[in-house]
Amino acid sequence: MRSMISTQLPTIIVFLALSAILSPVPAQKCIDQPNPFKPYDFTRVDCKLVTERSVAKRDNYVNDTTTTNMFEIAEFHCTGNNTALCDNMKKSFETAGQMISQVFCLKTPIKLNVSCLDFCNGLSDCSDERFIDLGFARPVRSMLMQDDDGVTRFYPQALVKQYQMQTHPEFTSIDITATFNTQVKWWFRQDQRQIGEKEFDFLTVCLHELFHGLGFQSYWSDWLNPSNASEALTPYPIISLDPKGSGLVIFDGFHEHGFDKYLITLPSGQRVSDFNKQLNKFAGGPGAKFANVTDFISQFRASPQYEIAKEMLKKAIIADDLGFLPQGVSNVSDCAIMETSINPYALGSNLEHLSEKHYANSSDFLMVFRYKTNQTLEDQEKRSGNLCFGAIGPKLRLIMQTLGYCTSNNSAPYQPTLPPFDPLAGPLGG
Ligand SMILES: *[C@@H]1O[C@H](CO)[C@@H](O)[C@H](O)[C@H]1NC(C)=O
Ligand SMILES: *[C@@H]1O[C@H](CO)[C@@H](O)[C@H](O)[C@H]1NC(C)=O
Ligand SMILES: *[C@@H]1O[C@H](CO)[C@@H](O)[C@H](O)[C@H]1NC(C)=O
Ligand SMILES: *[C@@H]1O[C@H](CO)[C@@H](O)[C@H](O)[C@H]1NC(C)=O
Ligand SMILES: *[C@@H]1O[C@H](CO)[C@@H](O)[C@H](O)[C@H]1NC(C)=O
Ligand SMILES: *[C@@H]1O[C@H](CO)[C@@H](O)[C@H](O)[C@H]1NC(C)=O
Ligand SMILES: *[C@@H]1O[C@H](CO)[C@@H](O)[C@H](O)[C@H]1NC(C)=O
Ligand SMILES: *[C@@H]1O[C@H](CO)[C@@H](O)[C@H](O)[C@H]1NC(C)=O
Ligand SMILES: *[C@@H]1O[C@H](CO)[C@@H](O)[C@H](O)[C@H]1NC(C)=O
Ligand SMILES: [Zn+2]
Repeated sequence: MRSMISTQLPTIIVFLALSAILSPVPAQKCIDQPNPFKPYDFTRVDCKLVTERSVAKRDNYVNDTTTTNMFEIAEFHCTGNNTALCDNMKKSFETAGQMISQVFCLKTPIKLNVSCLDFCNGLSDCSDERFIDLGFARPVRSMLMQDDDGVTRFYPQALVKQYQMQTHPEFTSIDITATFNTQVKWWFRQDQRQIGEKEFDFLTVCLHELFHGLGFQSYWSDWLNPSNASEALTPYPIISLDPKGSGLVIFDGFHEHGFDKYLITLPSGQRVSDFNKQLNKFAGGPGAKFANVTDFISQFRASPQYEIAKEMLKKAIIADDLGFLPQGVSNVSDCAIMETSINPYALGSNLEHLSEKHYANSSDFLMVFRYKTNQTLEDQEKRSGNLCFGAIGPKLRLIMQTLGYCTSNNSAPYQPTLPPFDPLAGPLGG
């Protein structure tokens, strides 16, 4: 997330390579975001189904999850000469892991690859007087699952692991990569001093980023426009080379993230997923063939479906236009209002956060897209006036529970199933 030093809205400039959406094999049913420093680089990978031979391996979960930290730092890469900073970050991860483990009954440990570096020197991502990027986190792998509404969507590995299926898509060793900026003036509670006027509380940011890694993310993005001026939003397009060697490319549909299943338009309450159903009618639907990716894009741009994609961009940049309707909530006015006020559209800020306007001062402050300096997590909790939720507010709990994480309130969390997994199968469908 990018955060505020003073005021004014951020812009994040990201270039998505067109070639990145083309993959050689249609059967590839996982998406990896392997580069901790380029969180928006998607790679399609062929994750075969594997069957755990030993039941013990599948069931090696801890029973008393309330006192256990289910997050493990498997790798920690801290560049520079910063032992004290690195130790402090590790301690904060321990605290953040415990806090999340107390609210969600995680059954399988979640493995992290944490890096810290100077974003300006290392990533050419420099702050100005108003903004600085604090850090980011992503699932390393997301896998295609079959939802109960008949649509296949991508679910993050950290969540799929919790289902403890004997047969599951192959996991990578790491579940979540998280990267933090050492240019930021971080404050750690273990320092036992007051937070400074220009300091950010690391624990707040660490918690926030872990939720992105757990699946607080959207696959609606401007995948098809190479320039930085966004024009239209679609879910992730699956495009593959024809395996029969014709040289053509096959469009296998726009695919949402599990999170996107619950997005609605406001105030009408229409499911955003229905817009994707319309988009997937493009050129007759999944299985349509094109000369190449450029041909696919130019035909899509000329299609009636493109108007829907342009409409989605509009909704994503006008305040109070989109919400997340948790499972079991029927009244649209009880939804979580998403951040859609940033214009121009900023990849990773719009749609992937809760509305700052509505929640920055509420008990759901954690998932707004930017923070101010000079406030600790406890300051924010106190200001919200609702001390019973701690840092993980009621809407955030409901959202993660809806996605499929177990809480004490849902004994049987939602679980999608495996899609038909024939490597020789044709189009992936809806
Ligand atoms: C966890 O609890 C279940 C049933 O309550 C029990 O069968 C299992 O052995 C326990 N596992 C561990 C690791 O203690
Ligand atoms: C690293 O920090 C220590 C203590 O602050 C200092 O003595 C040492 O010279 C530093 N090393 C480098 C390579 O900067
Ligand atoms: C962990 O992140 C580092 C970058 O800091 C990267 O070099 C390494 O390959 C990552 N490890 C895995 C297993 O992805
Ligand atoms: C990206 O946006 C900046 C500022 O709006 C502009 O100067 C630049 O030309 C744009 N780049 C492309 C490739 O469109
Ligand atoms: C893509 O296909 C179009 C339409 O057939 C063709 O005009 C164009 O040259 C092709 N582009 C590339 C890079 O092959
Ligand atoms: C939905 O909630 C709003 C605001 O809390 C309330 O005014 C309205 O009556 C509710 N609608 C229904 C159908 O319960
Ligand atoms: C939150 O409260 C502070 C004062 O404590 C105020 O300055 C700020 O504008 C409020 N933010 C929002 C989004 O309402
Ligand atoms: C920083 O926070 C302290 C304590 O809340 C407050 O007294 C002080 O005025 C704040 N400083 C600035 C520059 O906002
Ligand atoms: C559990 O559900 C009750 C009643 O629906 C609600 O009041 C409470 O806030 C929920 N607890 C959590 C942790 O979400
Ligand atoms: Zn964020």
